[in-house]
Amino acid sequence: MILFDNNTFHITNGKISYIFKILRNEHLGQLYFGKAIKHRNSFDHLLVEKATNLAPAVFQGDLDFSLEVLKQEYPSYGTGDFRDPAIQITQPNGSSITDLIYKSHVITKGKSSIKGLPSTYGDNVETLEITLYDVLIDVKVILKYSIFEAGLIRSAEIYNLGTNPIKIDRVMSASLDLYDADFEMITLNGAWGRERHIQTQKIVKGIQSISSARGASSAMHNPFIALKRPYTTEQTGEVYGFSLIYSGNFLAQVQVDAYDVSRVLIGINPFEFEWNLNQGESFHTPEAVLIYSDEGLNGMSQNFHNLFRNNLMRSPYKQKARPILINNWEATYFDFTEDSILEIAKTAKNVGVELFVLDDGWFGNRNNDTSSLGDWSVNLKKLPSGIKGLAEKINNLGLDFGLWFEPEMVNEISNLYKTHPDYVISTPARKKSYGRNQYVLDFSRDEVVNCIFEKMYETLSIANISYIKWDMNRNITEAYSCSLDHSHQKEFFHRYILGVYSLYEKLIDRFPNILFESCSAGGARFDPGLLYYAPQAWTSDNTDAVERLHIQYGTSMLYPIASMGTHVAAVPNHQVDRCTSLKMRADVAYFGTFGYELDLNKISTDELGQIEKQIMFFKEHRELIQLGDFYRLQSGNYYSWMVVSNDRKTAILGYYKILAHPNPSLKKIKLVGLDKNSEYKINTFINQKLFTKHYGDELMNCGLILETEFTGLMQAENFTGKYTPGTDKGDFTSQIYILTAE
Ligand code: GLA
Repeated sequence: MILFDNNTFHITNGKISYIFKILRNEHLGQLYFGKAIKHRNSFDHLLVEKATNLAPAVFQGDLDFSLEVLKQEYPSYGTGDFRDPAIQITQPNGSSITDLIYKSHVITKGKSSIKGLPSTYGDNVETLEITLYDVLIDVKVILKYSIFEAGLIRSAEIYNLGTNPIKIDRVMSASLDLYDADFEMITLNGAWGRERHIQTQKIVKGIQSISSARGASSAMHNPFIALKRPYTTEQTGEVYGFSLIYSGNFLAQVQVDAYDVSRVLIGINPFEFEWNLNQGESFHTPEAVLIYSDEGLNGMSQNFHNLFRNNLMRSPYKQKARPILINNWEATYFDFTEDSILEIAKTAKNVGVELFVLDDGWFGNRNNDTSSLGDWSVNLKKLPSGIKGLAEKINNLGLDFGLWFEPEMVNEISNLYKTHPDYVISTPARKKSYGRNQYVLDFSRDEVVNCIFEKMYETLSIANISYIKWDMNRNITEAYSCSLDHSHQKEFFHRYILGVYSLYEKLIDRFPNILFESCSAGGARFDPGLLYYAPQAWTSDNTDAVERLHIQYGTSMLYPIASMGTHVAAVPNHQVDRCTSLKMRADVAYFGTFGYELDLNKISTDELGQIEKQIMFFKEHRELIQLGDFYRLQSGNYYSWMVVSNDRKTAILGYYKILAHPNPSLKKIKLVGLDKNSEYKINTFINQKLFTKHYGDELMNCGLILETEFTGLMQAENFTGKYTPGTDKGDFTSQIYILTAE
């Protein structure tokens, strides 16, 4: 519901209220964002006008009304607010001051999409569009707010109505001034192989920010920040979450001012960004997501999960359980033949796998990473039946077939580079940097995107392909496009990502039923922007079960379980050389899309039998796991998380121990999300042993007491001298508990 009274907007979905008003100077002032409060015809008392002599005043003799201290809705710099602005526009005379005043607004049911950008949608949504206008430069800014059940979406659109050209230097998707600074900021940081580890830090006066200038959202920082109260836990307390539906360079920052107002800004990174607008042209920002919860970090995460599943992903798979796949990358790397692929596929089919994915190395002359990217035609030496023939053979085994592409890239050793060296991103007369021996194609140019579409289309139109893994294995350097004149070069990064989105659009339009999985050297472009096109993403190249606990725990902060690519791989693990049991590897991978990435013909019959059981288990429970409500419970040396079905009749708990300690303390976990009056039978997987039986209220308030781990003494008595993987003893153990209401 969106209400307008006494010059004040109150946006609410019954759970949150977002309130701001037209101030005396006709700018917009922020009043409140938080738990829903009753509507009243005036919230003026929330507007605290109080400044000091030093603060610039808007009206003569009225020292209290100063933009320096007022909480703003979409601030600009230069007329009294000295904090970082949401918008900055350079005009022909060199000035970048704007004076955006309220003109009009409209409230509508529904929500429109944004041309060329991913955007949220839904039936049950209301939208407010407020027009601000700067009369001196004839520029209009429309602020857009759409309220969904799970949260608020914001964006801005800038129009140049005047005859003079203008240049946008900075345009944030959202800006929010919060009353105080008693927050800790959560960010998801990392690098290749260790993406989205949670970092929490107390915010302090000044600016704290994360950003990307790599041309992609990146493994280093995810386009997300949360501000939580110091006392907020996974299950209780206040938290604000902000994310950006965008896959390119972003900025997310918090600035605490002298009066402890915390200003949050999120949008396209202004560093290396400019956008020119001539008369009649407009620019639309990506959408920002604003979530508030007073039910802890899980409350925030569930709102993100629901919003992304219901109102962002478009794929026909968005509400469906995902196929269990096997990918040959870690099994073969580049070294495979049609026969070896079919051998893996046959065994996979026998144990219950549903989709075979052929990874890198099937095209051109690619036997290592130095050649052939850009030449998307099959290598008949490796695959004599071609992709069409191989797909048929895989289909005849009873499996769907999926294929790897890296559409944005080219190797120097390739036909594409020979014919079109100009398609590569490079700065004239400067050396080009390599990344994994490859260059990035200039996707800011339509002809380059069309050329790659045609090449992909040749294969996709003849072979029965149900899945595409879209990879992207390096970042952009020497950013420059030969198609742009000097005054438009800083538009490049945004134009590049628009090109990526346009290729996704073209492919989806032509092949609407293909399941896309995005990937970027693992999870280096795992962002909400790509979820719009690809409902799942390869979470990390790191397939080690212990490492995956940290990565998946962090990723679940905002991404739904069904969007996380999770595979069981071989041991010793290829990234960290660690050995974990097959059981633990699966127990971690169940909480995702689930699949395998190893040569099933190189493991023992006993292990193959275990895999068959794992797949049976997963098929039985995947709807619950992928579509239920996910809760993180604990992290550290012991991890646990659980999913609960929408009707609360079933739940699955994953419990993981990293290192064993002698004489450990009692292990008791408080479960969440259950029905307090139902009695739950609790079984362990795989042996289906009845572990215990308790009412929901006891499990949630008193907790579930887990099987006692061995003490040093017991171990001495029972010590067999043999390593038994998959038991509770030793390092790296796990247990899955299935709860069923009687
Ligand atoms: C990236 C991906 C891997 C694999 C390789 C192939 O690193 O993350 O999963 O597809 O590329 O080259």
